[in-house]
Amino acid sequence: MKQRKILVTSALPYANGPIHVGHLVEYIQTDIWARFQRLRGHDCIYVCADDAHGTPIMLKAREEGVTPEALIERIGREHRADFADFLIEFDNYYTTHSPENRELAELIYIRNRDAGHIETRTITQAYDPVQGIFLPDRYIRGECPRCGAPDQYGDSCEVCGATYSPGELRNPVSVLSGVRPEARESLHYFFRLADFEPMLREWTAGGHLQEEVRNKLDEWFAAGLQPWDISRDAPYFGFEIPDAPGKYFYVWLDAPIGYMASLRNLCTRRGLDFDAYWGPDSEAEVYHFIGKDIIYFHALFWPAMLHGAGFRKPTAVFAHGFLTVDGQKMSKSRGTFIKARTYLDHLDPEYLRYYFAAKLNGRVEDIDLNLDDFVQRVNSDLVGKLVNIASRCARFIERDFGGRLAEALPAPELYQGFVAAGEIIAEWMEAREYGRAVREIMALADRANQYIDERKPWVAIKEPARRGEVQAVCTQGLNLFRVLVTYLKPILPRLAQRAEAFLGGPALDWQTRLQPLLGCEIRPFQPLLHRVDPKQVQAMVEASRESLEPRPAAAGTAAAPARTEEEAAPTIGIDEFARIDLRVARIVEAAEVEGADRLLRLTVDLGGERRTVFAGIRQAYRPEELVGRLTVVVANLAPRRMRFGVSEGMVLAAGPGGERLWLIGPDEGAEPGMRVR
Ligand code: MSP
Ligand code: ZN
Repeated sequence: MKQRKILVTSALPYANGPIHVGHLVEYIQTDIWARFQRLRGHDCIYVCADDAHGTPIMLKAREEGVTPEALIERIGREHRADFADFLIEFDNYYTTHSPENRELAELIYIRNRDAGHIETRTITQAYDPVQGIFLPDRYIRGECPRCGAPDQYGDSCEVCGATYSPGELRNPVSVLSGVRPEARESLHYFFRLADFEPMLREWTAGGHLQEEVRNKLDEWFAAGLQPWDISRDAPYFGFEIPDAPGKYFYVWLDAPIGYMASLRNLCTRRGLDFDAYWGPDSEAEVYHFIGKDIIYFHALFWPAMLHGAGFRKPTAVFAHGFLTVDGQKMSKSRGTFIKARTYLDHLDPEYLRYYFAAKLNGRVEDIDLNLDDFVQRVNSDLVGKLVNIASRCARFIERDFGGRLAEALPAPELYQGFVAAGEIIAEWMEAREYGRAVREIMALADRANQYIDERKPWVAIKEPARRGEVQAVCTQGLNLFRVLVTYLKPILPRLAQRAEAFLGGPALDWQTRLQPLLGCEIRPFQPLLHRVDPKQVQAMVEASRESLEPRPAAAGTAAAPARTEEEAAPTIGIDEFARIDLRVARIVEAAEVEGADRLLRLTVDLGGERRTVFAGIRQAYRPEELVGRLTVVVANLAPRRMRFGVSEGMVLAAGPGGERLWLIGPDEGAEPGMRVR
């Protein structure tokens, strides 16, 4: 077989937050594919990087009081550790904030500019005069121009589904400072995507994309290819545009170039030829694994930019769907927004690698992590079927034969059947149909177990005359196991390593599987994988559940990060204050909440309307002393589902928390329902 030269990438995660199980679908999918290619004897390198630029990263650094450089350095370290612990084996994990990326971004821009693919135009944009920055759409909220729903994003309404431009919002406010944004003009740089339409039409029809993605692209062609705004004004964390001081490349311009920059950095370190992968005459295969949300960037902008700059285009873009957990979008309150690190604190990474593999296919379908099914599947397939083959055979070989395998296989045709199945399994793996490959492998595992069951070595061993038969059957079983572990090695690299250490012989790959291990000694069997205990999964979910119990410092449930007593709140405008509907309320019932030692369940009367509010004031007040008292309630806080029920507001209290909390209330005479201003 001819050795292929392959480069694969996964999308570059943003350096402003932790890796979560949703991300891991992609990195696990890509890693399995890269490992599979190497196991088949191909030259396959896998590069990635942190996506370090853009407004959210700049703002997060501001918020933390650190430089963006310090922030991306810290997050980069966390990302690397998370990936390493999930056994994701990058050849290089770099950052887009690198000299290589700056140089390549400038080069690609300049070549496109010189070829006439860049134009400029003055646009009007929302500007936050307090923060001193232009506001991306998602930083503006206001009333929907169609249905009037309050507090909607700058681009679409979550209530009626309308889409609009931020300029159309009524009473818009900047979510950063609470003030009304100003409209300001500024010169922007645009990439003329439509220049590339004929090339893109041909390319998208050329077998580089999945069927569903192609169809999506046809819709986009029909809608017309608009010029793409690639500049942002200072202050911005990114690369300054070479011929435009004060203007920066939009993060999405230099992000995909980060693939090349990471490769270039690797080539320098390893003495590899960059052009062999990305030069115009490269014969290497280049594949991008991405999520379905970023297809536009990878299937239109990216090939166009590359083409315009005289670089080769990717061989294919492989898009996957999104992860749901227990059938729903990941949710912090349900405890299903599971960070990579939280998972690792409770569970073995190979369980998730296996589960995702079992569910993945080559299409753009969402996949579900069903937590009960996860436990069940890992235990029955990996422990019950796969590891079981090895443990039951190894026992006899060790105890009765000094660890020595028989000289010949008693059922060579069965072994050959397992070897032959490697062809179809390889086809499924190549096509990213991991689920089918796993099904095939598990069917073989059933056959191996059945073979052992039929020969009953545990019975035969009792008859001295049948000792040779037991050794042969167990040798057969261990060799079948060895072939299965070879097929699973891209998915379960650590289990494979343990199996290699115990079996001895050459490292497992598609070639070495052809020769069974015979007449040699194996080492003492070590457990290869433990059963998952549902309690571990439960503990992980609990640890992921973002506490909806009120924090000690506040009597209600605050969505914003807790502020300590000493910290002052940022300045807000009067408009923002006016959005909080504070009302006088009378407490008509108060009761302790079973299982929550900080909470009281209050029923409050808001002047005709009664509401249930959970308040973290149990250590400060006995329920009976509260009944009849007046207090102040945030009446327009969105209802929140807590473990004990729905909280329909929040009462106000002062103090650091625990016993030291004092409920806020007006003097007697005020009436329930009155507005507090
Ligand atoms: N920084 C951009 C990508 C730039 S690539 C030149 C980005 N970053 S991301 O952190 O938001 O997402 C990284 C990858 O993870 C994307 O491919 C995205 O689709 C994928 N996923 C993020 N959340 C996901 C799920 N819940 N489920 C599956 N994949 C998800 O986009
Ligand atoms: Zn609306």
